[in-house]
Amino acid sequence: MSLDQILNDEERLAELDLDQLKQLVGLVEHDDSTDPFPVSGWDALVWTVGNAVQTAHFFQSAFGMELVAYSGPENGNRHHHAYVLTSGAARFVIQGAYDPASPLADHHRTHGDGIADIALTVPDVDRCIEHARRQGATIVEEPHDVSDEHGTVRRAAIAAYGDTIHSLVDRSRYSGPYLPGFVEKRSTFVKRPGAAKRLFQAVDHVVGNVELGNMDQWVDFYNRVMGFTNMAEFIGEDIATDYSALMSKVVANGNHRVKFPLNEPALGKKKSQIDEYLEFYCGPGAQHVALATNDIIATVDAMTAEGVEFLSTPDSYYEDPELRGRIGTVRAPIEELQRRGILVDRDEDGYLLQIFTKPTGDRPTVFFELIERHGSLGFGKGNFKALFEAIEREQERRGNF
Ligand SMILES: [Fe+2]
Repeated sequence: MSLDQILNDEERLAELDLDQLKQLVGLVEHDDSTDPFPVSGWDALVWTVGNAVQTAHFFQSAFGMELVAYSGPENGNRHHHAYVLTSGAARFVIQGAYDPASPLADHHRTHGDGIADIALTVPDVDRCIEHARRQGATIVEEPHDVSDEHGTVRRAAIAAYGDTIHSLVDRSRYSGPYLPGFVEKRSTFVKRPGAAKRLFQAVDHVVGNVELGNMDQWVDFYNRVMGFTNMAEFIGEDIATDYSALMSKVVANGNHRVKFPLNEPALGKKKSQIDEYLEFYCGPGAQHVALATNDIIATVDAMTAEGVEFLSTPDSYYEDPELRGRIGTVRAPIEELQRRGILVDRDEDGYLLQIFTKPTGDRPTVFFELIERHGSLGFGKGNFKALFEAIEREQERRGNF
């Protein structure tokens, strides 16, 4: 496969090159021909929220995303509004019901704001569905074409954890702004003078929370149904504090663009943060979205200036001599990271910088991570304890600990 073919249209449009993507999201080369369920990458994270009008504004103002397409009553959508936003290769679709009878209203009543569909780009929808069916997956949408004057999209969908689905989308014969039913729409939101062109370049990973005892079943689902392979394994004490614990395993598609850590609660002295999520989301669902940035310091500063709140990290984290020794030299002075609460982790391949937002909706469920990779293909295992202690302090303040 040529290097040009490895990049998808969104990445080319975002002016990303292969070396940047290897660095940003740990992209590797992969031969699709032997893959039973080839996945090229992320298509979109499709959110169902209580107020799409305002959430779309939030992602433009606070996350620096660009509005590119829209579907709503003005162009024949009688059920909901949907705003399509991009940042580099990342695409979010924000949908909210305006018809009280819309299934989206039911979804929101049950789950609150959340990711209903982790849509993936595949080169051959029918081949994927055939394999998924043989493996016993639930097909929620059979393969079909949707067309308009811009061409044809072939799509289908399978069920994942909880009410989450994976749409499978082949848009190779389509040139419209998103999907048939959507019209091009540009932001009326004007960025501040001097604002960066974008605050993040791509989606790195999406974490799923499932019930106690179900993590291995979902790892098996991604292995067997979707041909994903296991990347790293974190279990038991690695990521436990005295009071809150979880187990986590990570699966990835062939080229590692799509990475799914899967968490389940583990027994601790008090309620696990995963249990809190499961209670308030009313079941399994997507817990956090990691956004890849090549300048986490600038991104944190820009988001903070727009009111995004990040979890704080105790000063002891940065002053711990053992941790400092392990981290060694990174691209910015530790004091710059400490001022913003940015975490550092190092493994045999390199290091990464990361930080987590507070939940961005009303419920203590979904939140974001910013991640800047420098060779490390990990997920911040070394930071889990420091991070969870910070999360627990927040959980305690909400009275759910
Ligand atoms: Fe993460």
